[in-house]
Amino acid sequence: MLFTGAVCVPLSIFYEVNFMPNGFDEQKIRAYAEKFGCGYEIDVIAETDSTNNVLKKLAVTTDKDGYLLIARRQTAGRGRLGRSFFSPDSGVYMSLLIRPNTPPEQTLFFTTAAAVAVCRAIERTTKLTAQIKWVNDVYIGGKKVCGILCESAIEHDKTAWTVVGIGVNLAHPKGGFPPEIADKAAALFEGEAPEGFEEKFSAALAYELFRLYFDGSFTDVNEYRSRSMLIGREITAVTAAGERPCRAIGIDSAAALIVEYPDGTRGYLNSGEVSVRF
Ligand code: BTN
Repeated sequence: MLFTGAVCVPLSIFYEVNFMPNGFDEQKIRAYAEKFGCGYEIDVIAETDSTNNVLKKLAVTTDKDGYLLIARRQTAGRGRLGRSFFSPDSGVYMSLLIRPNTPPEQTLFFTTAAAVAVCRAIERTTKLTAQIKWVNDVYIGGKKVCGILCESAIEHDKTAWTVVGIGVNLAHPKGGFPPEIADKAAALFEGEAPEGFEEKFSAALAYELFRLYFDGSFTDVNEYRSRSMLIGREITAVTAAGERPCRAIGIDSAAALIVEYPDGTRGYLNSGEVSVRF
């Protein structure tokens, strides 16, 4: 097992040779990273409170850039909107620290690109089809298998750093999911994951993340849009203004969810969340 302590792992060590349909090229990712003027480093640890917490501290105390921390469990995993994120060792939890120096309007794209990377990694390593529930959840068969939490600092009207946190339920947790999420959560495998799957999946996701962020295509929402499971559905928008029923009709080029209210007016959601019944 690779998940035994803090080690810096070149991606190729835990990636099956020829696993990627188009060939796996670590050199290419390094080249992307260099082109974008950032580093490329991965650490794998057994446990921490929250990989986002660790990287947020590193963001202000170091100049690390292009640094990915992967943990097998978290003792205080955090979700969006101040919620906790159930993080037992049946899942994998990772955070990527980057210093994009991009305009604040592009911040939402870090979340959308991460969601696309997770879907691609799932489909490269399993026979499953993954969809995205705007804005930050990945679903399989109507249940959530992954959550994403991006946290950023804006300085001088630029994104000084972003921590992209991703938690994926790989296998069914031994004691089951907690009652409050049991009807909504699922894992990639109903029982245990196959031997070596954590490594294979982590490497696939690391690859897809680095590729998306550093090849410059992270602001392109076409794939995100085509994977959206909400379009055409009746949903409830949950924003600071309260809850409002509406129908999801599209995702615009800024990744806002376009909704239509019962009175025929349109809204563009770029914060908050939505709920949907299956
Ligand atoms: C959500 O579903 O609300 C977002 C969940 C994000 C969880 C990930 S796991 C890795 C990183 N560390 C955390 O504490 N949270 C994110």
